Amino acid sequence: MSGCPYFEKRHLLFKSKPPTPEEDDASQAGENKASKGGIIYGDYLKLDKIVTAQVLQSELKGNKIHDEHLFIVTHQAYELWFKQILFELDSVRQIFISGHVRDERNMLKVNTRINRIVMIFRLLVDQFSVLETMTSLDFFAFREYLAPASGFQSLQFRLLENKIGVQDNLRVPYNKRHYKDNFKGLDSEKLLASEQEPTLLKLVEEWLERTPGLEADGFNFWEKLEINIVHGLNQEKEKIEAMAESDEKAELMAELLKQKEIFSSLFDEKRHNHLVSKGERRLSYKALQGALMIYFYREEPRFQVPFQLLTSLMDIDTLMTKWRYNHVCMVHRMIGSKAGTGGSSGYHYLRSTVSDRYKVFVDLFNLATFLVPRHWLPKMNPNLHTFLYTAECCDSSYFSSEDSD
Ligand code: HEM
Repeated sequence: MSGCPYFEKRHLLFKSKPPTPEEDDASQAGENKASKGGIIYGDYLKLDKIVTAQVLQSELKGNKIHDEHLFIVTHQAYELWFKQILFELDSVRQIFISGHVRDERNMLKVNTRINRIVMIFRLLVDQFSVLETMTSLDFFAFREYLAPASGFQSLQFRLLENKIGVQDNLRVPYNKRHYKDNFKGLDSEKLLASEQEPTLLKLVEEWLERTPGLEADGFNFWEKLEINIVHGLNQEKEKIEAMAESDEKAELMAELLKQKEIFSSLFDEKRHNHLVSKGERRLSYKALQGALMIYFYREEPRFQVPFQLLTSLMDIDTLMTKWRYNHVCMVHRMIGSKAGTGGSSGYHYLRSTVSDRYKVFVDLFNLATFLVPRHWLPKMNPNLHTFLYTAECCDSSYFSSEDSD
């Protein structure tokens, strides 16, 4: 008979041996297994703490409002999922920090955990719809009791943003206050640490900088790519110039000039660093090259898992933006343009956070701007191809630059 693993298969989880025939008989006879020792469901999950943690302020004030229960449970569910995200995120950061990522087999673990974070975020984005079954009038009935509490004071949300890599100087200030002003003591120390530790962005950046094939004395992907793109654009230009004068020719030429401008920004390191200083690009010049190489050669066996990681990182950014968007839509519906209980302008402040300023992996999205026809890509020599096919070999001679374009 199948059933809940905590009861039916408890021996698998907590005991080394399966139940004896006597234990089984007792169970058949309806005897409570908990009396035989071991841990039971409620104790294991500390449910006494969790299901008694819904204290309605409205009830304490003698005016119990039904929907406050949903409001509290929703926030608690969010915080639990934030905790799980932080747990996964810390473990992934640790794999990078400890250098275990150099063993490419660990990339599967990284990907599995990052993908789990993506799945949780999907859930969190949708979860607002449950709270939206509450009307603004119902919310109004108990809102006064919870002030000045606000999601602003969610420590885990800020830790999550910081550990992924939201940049402090790009945050939108509210009422000329800093988000950290809401935190004191140990919480404030945790936040400070999260700003100082390497973020997921930083760790991914270092990993991308080591992408095989970027070496100037080897395959030298970047230089070859630039040569091919310049060549490709010149050929396009010649084709357009050979056309008879027409509106179409003028449009094509204008488009080509735009393309040239875009690519010259890609191959100009100074310009890149300027964009980084303005917060418009986040990755180092070398890391951007690695990311583009993985994009272009994603079908190579060794680049498939890295490519999946880059895709999941974009998913995280997209889902966090959707979270912000769904949250602000709900806030608008609940309180209109009233100020928030945490002291911000409310809807207007939150709306301004749904922006690229909060996108950590913004460069990965922008890579699509630089995609070129496949035949413009530098051809790999057979040695590099073999290298990218097998993970074991690490002989730099495989990056010989004798291949032709
Ligand atoms: C009726 C439902 C909700 C309303 C009216 C509401 C309202 C607000 C407002 C007005 C702010 C801006 C800060 C302030 O001045 O208070 C805010 C921030 C925030 N809320 Fe909510 N909220 C609701 C539900 C939720 C839920 C379910 C969560 C889940 C954890 C949440 C998490 C947050 C977070 C993390 C912030 C900070 C966002 C930032 O600064 O970027 N809120 N909320």
